[in-house]
Amino acid sequence: MRFWLAALAAVLLLGGCGDPTDRHWTVLGSQLTPEQEEQSRTAVKARDAMFGQLFARLQAAVKKGGPAEAIAVCQEAAPAIAKAIGKKHGVRIGRTALKLRNPENAPPDWAVGYVGGDGGVPVQLQHEDGRFAALLPIRLQVGCLGCHGASESIAPPVKAALAERYPDDKATGFKAGDLRGWFWVEVPAP
Ligand code: HEC
Repeated sequence: MRFWLAALAAVLLLGGCGDPTDRHWTVLGSQLTPEQEEQSRTAVKARDAMFGQLFARLQAAVKKGGPAEAIAVCQEAAPAIAKAIGKKHGVRIGRTALKLRNPENAPPDWAVGYVGGDGGVPVQLQHEDGRFAALLPIRLQVGCLGCHGASESIAPPVKAALAERYPDDKATGFKAGDLRGWFWVEVPAP
């Protein structure tokens, strides 16, 4: 009997209720320690670098082959750029969203509870082991509508390419200014 109670307690403690939130992460307020400030700056720098590279790559691909062609480039380039930026800045980085195009962009565990935040306010967290994490909002711009806008703003060849590569695409129907998703960044302990 005592064994079963202990087993039950362990299951509950380990998140057996299905709560995806990792309890070892704490949300940080606006007052950061100097170490956290440094980690936060690293996260933003990595985000800026990834945004810049992705955008440049996307624009070049659209210019060269049109948006339908650019979809293939985006699919291959996005994870490669995330990996390279992560290595260069010593972080883990990626893009995620509530309404995903690519299910492989699912949020890391610590971000699961926050990607739905409709205010699009940045979230910063700290793990008890010293790691720092940030979720930084990505808003839709006019130039994104051809691939993420309402159905009538997406050209038929783009629709076809999206249907072929992303049969479960949930990332259309957005307007300029909408919260499209987030960059997530994990910075190691100082
Ligand atoms: C040429 C078409 C195209 C354009 C233009 C485009 N995207 Fe995307 N977007 C994609 C594709 C394809 C993916 C899936 C990439 C992958 O497989 O990781 C994607 C994925 C994303 C994701 C990752 C989350 C997810 O749903 O998988 C975000 C965030 C995103 N786009 C935001 C934007 C923003 C913001 C803009 C404008 C600055 C933009 N996109 C412009 C095609 C496009």
